[in-house]
Amino acid sequence: MMPKSQIHPDHLAELLRFYADAGVDEAMEDEPINRFEERAPAQVPKAAAPSVPDRSAAPSPQRPPAAPAEARPAMPAAIPDEAQAARARDLARSAGSLAELKQLLADFDGCNLKYTAKNLVFADGNPEADIMFVGEAPGRDEDLEGLPFVGRSGRLLDRMLAAIGLDRTTAYISNVIPWRPPGNRDPSPLETEICRPFIERHIELMNPKVLVTLGNPSTKLLLRTQTGIMRMRGNWSVHATPGGVQIPTMPTLHPAYLLRNPAHKKLAWRDFVAIKVKLRQLGESRT
Ligand code: URA
Repeated sequence: MMPKSQIHPDHLAELLRFYADAGVDEAMEDEPINRFEERAPAQVPKAAAPSVPDRSAAPSPQRPPAAPAEARPAMPAAIPDEAQAARARDLARSAGSLAELKQLLADFDGCNLKYTAKNLVFADGNPEADIMFVGEAPGRDEDLEGLPFVGRSGRLLDRMLAAIGLDRTTAYISNVIPWRPPGNRDPSPLETEICRPFIERHIELMNPKVLVTLGNPSTKLLLRTQTGIMRMRGNWSVHATPGGVQIPTMPTLHPAYLLRNPAHKKLAWRDFVAIKVKLRQLGESRT
């Protein structure tokens, strides 16, 4: 980053606008870290440094040098790689309950998204519900609250649920990615691959009668298809869990997409009516 002193005040607003457009919407630390200053002590010749601190010396008017890097809590570097994806598969398989899976995710250090997110966003709603909705990844509001779909698109999802007589006491909601990607960028294919076993096990443990994938990424991942959401939506598919259970799955449009394209709400409405009919049929077939 450019040192503050080199930025002309006239350019500061422009620079902040550039950051905002690039998706940078929050500071990672309360205090900026001056990486140039951090290196300064290393350049002082050893002989010039007193071996014992001279406590009688007058206090220096300068700011004390930044704490050496090793004094700060180390942020484990998680380089996403195939080994982490393999580890994620083993860990997810070992979870025997939703609570265990949540704890495993909270302890998992193999996905770098965890280190820029404020909270793990695991799920919301009723884990005993007949229906589970899976979105893509938490946004800013979800990251702050640690709950999925609580921002603008979450409020639309709540209205869509209400339209077919559901709410968060009768539905369960989660995401493919449980940590907010910085600046809401798209998760990389490897990050998605690392998170995949956790959401697959999540669905398997929750064992809903009906699964709804919200938008392109979760539809492609959970139905293992390359076909886009516009062709997939409205048609029942099957999600096969790692253990081989087949769950009827309805792909539909993501609420964030509907906020940008309100004319397509009628398509989502048709999908939700089909979901309501399916839930009714499954309920009747049990009695
Ligand atoms: N979009 C998603 O896909 N998930 C959320 O939780 C919020 C917005």
